[in-house]
Amino acid sequence: MQKLIIDTDPGQDDAVAILLALASPEFDLLGITTVAGNVPLNLTTVNARKICDLAGRTDCLVFAGQDRPMARPLVTAEHVHGRTGLDGTDIPPPQTPLQDTSAVAFLIDSIRENPAGAVTIATLGPLTNLGLALKKAPEIASQIGQVVMMGGGFFEGGNITVAAEFNIFVDPEAADIIFRSGVPIVMMPLDVTHKVLTHKKRINSFAALGNETGRQVANMLSFSERFDENKYGTDGGPLHDPCTIAWLLEPELFSGRHCSVVVETSSELTLGMTVIDWWQVSGRPHNANVMRDVDDDGFFKLLTDRLSTLP
Ligand code: BDR
Ligand code: CA
Repeated sequence: MQKLIIDTDPGQDDAVAILLALASPEFDLLGITTVAGNVPLNLTTVNARKICDLAGRTDCLVFAGQDRPMARPLVTAEHVHGRTGLDGTDIPPPQTPLQDTSAVAFLIDSIRENPAGAVTIATLGPLTNLGLALKKAPEIASQIGQVVMMGGGFFEGGNITVAAEFNIFVDPEAADIIFRSGVPIVMMPLDVTHKVLTHKKRINSFAALGNETGRQVANMLSFSERFDENKYGTDGGPLHDPCTIAWLLEPELFSGRHCSVVVETSSELTLGMTVIDWWQVSGRPHNANVMRDVDDDGFFKLLTDRLSTLP
């Protein structure tokens, strides 16, 4: 089993990623760490716990993380996710307990306690928790198996500014630490996640599963896709964060290439941009495996099949 930590700011698409992981026996989910992002930390933490409840997994360990980026005020995305971050759902207040340990301490301890290379971290939100963990304990960089990150964009541009994707824009300093750390990174930028669209037919398939998970997922995605449907004029919105978990389960659904990725941390115009050397012109060393294409039908088949196994 793959030892996994999910670092997240739920968010409807984060919620679907967590559900996909909880529905997959391939993973030994060590814990879920929360961060401020789509909505403030108190809400992302409640939401993560609600998702564990929904999956019937009140035994999951949830750790609250940083309530603001490393060096900047928090930027949130209620315009996409609604006031609660999980608008569209009606999951009761959570039963899954919150652990006492902080997310950063949990990240450092679990990486130290496990054999080198054993732990994969899926990051679905701003990278504050992991950035801080690497700042406090830089030696863990060589112990982390890999980081599978939803973040960044290049050919598609940005989604929160012209140049920047939300997760990187919110905490560019933290992202910069990770891209410079030497940790193996698999990156799911907007260039690939914008090809994974929640078409009406796909939402209907979740609803048709007949379980509570399918109902909640159909309702939450119907809410969160509205913003992007209006913005991009598409049938459905991009389902960003589950791409990370799907890659861990079926990497052959995706294709990309190893590149140099550098994060812009100073320009007012392009703050948080991920400068991806797709055409290999810079000569800079490769630090990320950057995905660009996906078998979207295969992705939705995997997701729907797995969600059918949950309560
Ligand atoms: C990312 O930002 C958030 O709004 C989503 O949850 C996803 O992680 C997409 O840019
Ligand atoms: Ca997210």
